[in-house]
Amino acid sequence: MALNLAALGKPIGPVTKDYHWKDTVLYALGVGAGFEEIEFTYEKNLKVLPSFAIAAVFDLFFLFCTEANVDLAGILHGEQQLTFHHPIPTEGTLKTTGQLTHYYDKGKDKGALVVGESDTWHSNGKKLFTSRMTMFARRDGGFGGENVSPPSIVMPDRKPDFVVEDTPSKDQPLLYRLSGDIFALHVDQAFAAQSGFEKPIMHGLCTHGFACRALIKSLMPGRPEQLRRMDCRFSRPLYPGEPIQTQIWQEGEGRALWRVVNAQTGAVVIDRGVLEYGDVPAHQIRFDNRVAIVTGAGGGLGRAYALELARRGAKVVVNDFGGARDGTGAGSFAPAAKVAAEIEAAGGQAVANDDNVATPEGGERIVQAALEAFGTVDILINNAGILRDKSFAKMTPASWQAVIDVHLNGAFHVTRPAFEAMKARGYGRIVMTTSAAGLYGNFGQTNYAAAKMGLVGLMNTLNLEGAKYNIRVNTIAPLAASRLTADVLPPELLEKMQPEYVVPMTLCLCAEECAVSGHIYNAGMGYFNRAAVVTGPGAVVAGRDQYPTVEEVAAAMDRIDSLADGKTYGQVSDQLADLLAAFASPDAAEAAGQEKGARGEPSVAAVFEALPGAFRPEAATGVSAVFQYRISGAGGGDWHCIVADRQCRVVTGRHDRPTCTLNMAAADFLAMMSGRLAPLQAFNSGKLIIEGDIMKSQLIEKLFKR
Ligand code: NAI
Repeated sequence: MALNLAALGKPIGPVTKDYHWKDTVLYALGVGAGFEEIEFTYEKNLKVLPSFAIAAVFDLFFLFCTEANVDLAGILHGEQQLTFHHPIPTEGTLKTTGQLTHYYDKGKDKGALVVGESDTWHSNGKKLFTSRMTMFARRDGGFGGENVSPPSIVMPDRKPDFVVEDTPSKDQPLLYRLSGDIFALHVDQAFAAQSGFEKPIMHGLCTHGFACRALIKSLMPGRPEQLRRMDCRFSRPLYPGEPIQTQIWQEGEGRALWRVVNAQTGAVVIDRGVLEYGDVPAHQIRFDNRVAIVTGAGGGLGRAYALELARRGAKVVVNDFGGARDGTGAGSFAPAAKVAAEIEAAGGQAVANDDNVATPEGGERIVQAALEAFGTVDILINNAGILRDKSFAKMTPASWQAVIDVHLNGAFHVTRPAFEAMKARGYGRIVMTTSAAGLYGNFGQTNYAAAKMGLVGLMNTLNLEGAKYNIRVNTIAPLAASRLTADVLPPELLEKMQPEYVVPMTLCLCAEECAVSGHIYNAGMGYFNRAAVVTGPGAVVAGRDQYPTVEEVAAAMDRIDSLADGKTYGQVSDQLADLLAAFASPDAAEAAGQEKGARGEPSVAAVFEALPGAFRPEAATGVSAVFQYRISGAGGGDWHCIVADRQCRVVTGRHDRPTCTLNMAAADFLAMMSGRLAPLQAFNSGKLIIEGDIMKSQLIEKLFKR
């Protein structure tokens, strides 16, 4: 095996993880917290123990290892550095992206160090923490790289200022592993023996959590949100039930050194710990040196966006055609000029532009105005809009076309040249403007609703195309008093609907800090929520060798119609993966009339039948391999999958010269294919045994959509 040097610097992830307050409590219990630290263990006034950070993104450890192509049999978690930017909320979704940053060569028989860094963002838009993990790859040394410099941290030669005693229970790993790291080494007697230990050992990160509690208790009692940085090196294994001491030396204001020792043997278990703590300076979201285009900014919401962007440092192109509410009229420079003048009077920078978004030339000229005045485009808010309401029976082609032209085509005309400029610079924030009328329907607005939902489709795909250039595309569904709503909402309601209530959300989506892309938010009166296309779990109605009948579909309508446990998808392949997984579920197999094993388990045949449909020829250039599957247990059997010439064929039975053979029990195989069991976890826990070329087996994840 050779380290994959080409993987250095390539983006890894995003990995997303939903978590609930119970996950944070389970973690705290897993690292020894109890009644004494009730702030971590009781949902009332709950706080999150900061070391939860690393347990929450631990999947990245395996991703780093796979991308680096390390020999999995020789990996250990060597060092861990965590920098905290904001306290971890008690629930939400974490999104983590990372990259491999360094490989160090300790020598042929001494192994290699593989370093991966990642940033984790919360669904509230805040960057929570940065992690730097060092993996010790014992079997990958001698590749000719530079050696790591000697450590710069020297532990003090004096008595520690604080010593916190604790004893993880004999069963501690059983509780800790429920937070995600289910590696067999910490639970399985035979596996531990094979790895050279007398019994399962503590997770290094579990001991790390004990240390985190001790540090908080000693240095910032009751205020875990003050933890800024926690670094350490894992030096020796610890057995559950052995007493530990966390030794802490204060090193000036807001800084301490620490280590954990085995109190029985004196052996240092975690070494060279560094801790920084203190209050976070108040953070202001700024747009200094950013160039923003706001279309339709001569009044209403657009004006409010432009003023606030400029107040926070952006240079703004204030675009407005200056026509009537229904888009008629020759246009006027006055509305855009007035807002630009307002910005300048307040000390900001702006240029006015009165081009029409509804034409390709208009879109080009708006972007050109930004390039000429300020040299680039970082932010685009597609906001311009008109209304021509009529019930559908009275909708004329002209009214239909005019509304589509301004909203949907208009966004296309401006975004196309702006996207080019953003792509070239590797940075962009784009906001589309939809409407509740499009998302949910509104009588008399078929043209407007169609255009507004068209913008959601535009966002969905542009989000995917922009991702690798750091271009994030989101959509706002505002509700505000403006000339568009002046006669459709009651005056007393309009009074409470100033555009300024919408501005903060739209500006969040324009900020560098914006962690989301492809999302839709309702915003009005200070109330915000996310809207999304949700897909229900559905039902497999396909017969074994025949199409489902109309009656069968009608009979299954309740299940097909249900949105219980509905999901949002990031792209079409995610939805396709669930479609394939649906055929791997026991219910589906039964519905499809497949053969059952002796004990009633479903056959895995449907999964292999569906496999060619999940094949990704674009990922198979130059790949020639035969993957043999030997699935044991009821419903199992032998199948092999031949990949050559960017094609894939699945054949029942055994191949005489497979590249590698994957051995699994049927139930585990089905769990893995339906996404309930991660392949690396299956491998690490011994549920997946690979014979032959293990390296080639790692291609499977790339060759097939999940
Ligand atoms: P507004 O009428 O005050 O602002 C729209 C601006 O777009 C106007 O100043 C208009 O001159 C400009 N405009 C129209 N056609 C243009 C063109 N072809 N080229 C350049 N500029 C053009 O209305 P409001 O409410 O501020 O609307 C802003 C956006 O928010 C629109 O896209 C609207 O559909 C959307 N929206 C507004 C809601 C609300 O409650 N106000 C509800 C849902 C969506």
